[in-house]
Amino acid sequence: MNILLLGSGGRENALAWKMVKSHHCDKLFIAPGNAGTAAYGTNLDIAVTDFEAIKAVCISEKINMVVVGPEEPLVKGIYDFFQEDAALQHINVVGPSAAAAQLEGSKAFSKKFMQRHGIPTAGYAEFTADTYEDGKKYIAAHTLPIVLKADGLAAGKGVVIAVTQEEAQKVFEEMILHKQFGEASSKVVIEEFLQGIEVSVFALTDGHVYQIIGHAKDYKRIGEGDTGLNTGGMGCVSPVPFMDEVFMQKVEERIIQPTIAGLEKENLTYHGFVFFGLMNVKGEPFVIEYNCRMGDPETEVVMPLLQTDIVGLFAAMDNGTLMDANITFYPQSCATVMAVSGGYPGDYQKNFRISGLTDFHSEESMIFHAGTKLAGDEVVTNGGRVLAVTSYGNTLSEAVARSKKVLEKISFEGMYYRKDIGYEFD
Ligand code: AMP
Ligand code: GLY
Repeated sequence: MNILLLGSGGRENALAWKMVKSHHCDKLFIAPGNAGTAAYGTNLDIAVTDFEAIKAVCISEKINMVVVGPEEPLVKGIYDFFQEDAALQHINVVGPSAAAAQLEGSKAFSKKFMQRHGIPTAGYAEFTADTYEDGKKYIAAHTLPIVLKADGLAAGKGVVIAVTQEEAQKVFEEMILHKQFGEASSKVVIEEFLQGIEVSVFALTDGHVYQIIGHAKDYKRIGEGDTGLNTGGMGCVSPVPFMDEVFMQKVEERIIQPTIAGLEKENLTYHGFVFFGLMNVKGEPFVIEYNCRMGDPETEVVMPLLQTDIVGLFAAMDNGTLMDANITFYPQSCATVMAVSGGYPGDYQKNFRISGLTDFHSEESMIFHAGTKLAGDEVVTNGGRVLAVTSYGNTLSEAVARSKKVLEKISFEGMYYRKDIGYEFD
């Protein structure tokens, strides 16, 4: 079949790498893609939210399946757009409906959903401009640290963990009164701080049944030892040593099963990835967030460890046979280390030439492009997160060491990466 993949990050490069291995995949198109995805299919200069242009190419290229990488087109209703158009209805869109994508698109929606279905999560309250004074009192009476979240999508920047009352009150004022994130912060969720270790679990669901396709631990902070500003993710490891059978059983019983049952009960149409962002609090799992897509850079370790044909799973999700699929994993460990632009996650420059990519050959390592583009024959930087280098290893430390070795041979002006990914598991 012909497949269109939407997105342009390391996640999409890893998905493209995995999908072209499938015998179900004839032609792959990526919109807009990056210099790395160009090796696996045809990049199209179409924005992920330009639904009319996406429709036109689906018809002209006889696309059978659309795999949606990022959240924005999902929250904006790409699934529904295809369902409502007679010319597109037959296409298998991998992603939830707009209503179900609210699990990611609105923190208040997801908190209420978890409450309705008894899913463990941090205690919370929500406030708007109308209840601003109540919010200030709520913060004043709250223990520290305290977590403030813009309700809507804020490009990963809408969460602040405040450690003082002054900071919390200031952030609250910025979000509500000064509309720091525009409409996204017209409502603010204020929640308890959960102390623990984060882990992300990934499932595919057709809204009725689910299959777990992997998990990973993401390193979000820019600095070594988990210090400094939050980023989109600086590296990942999988499998995570504490994800043993006992913990996974708790995750399935307390979180995944009630989530899928909740989707079904509330008639929320879902045909796609569910990303469970969890906190392991002394061996007990809590939901920090849902995302309606794969994680980045989690995908860069989840796809290499998944042995099962992913396109076959997407097809099974569409034809009601997801439970018949046999999910198998490679036995190795896997790590990815992200090389970022100097200045990221703050301001950074683009268009620096990347050297060391062409003579790269390895059995154990892969270079997934994130923010790159082709400028003539050259690959240049085109984003904050530039390259994710993934390696297999017999242990996590071996995998990380291999990725770092590859990165030593790559360079671009201002390049930075964390050398301590997986440090707790050494
Ligand atoms: P989110 O955008 O919801 O993923 O939040 C961004 C990051 O903030 C998460 O990955 C966590 O590291 C942190 N975080 C969010 N909520 C909490 C919480 N209730 N307790 C502790 N950390 C949190
Ligand atoms: N790496 C976290 C995310 O994709 O949201």
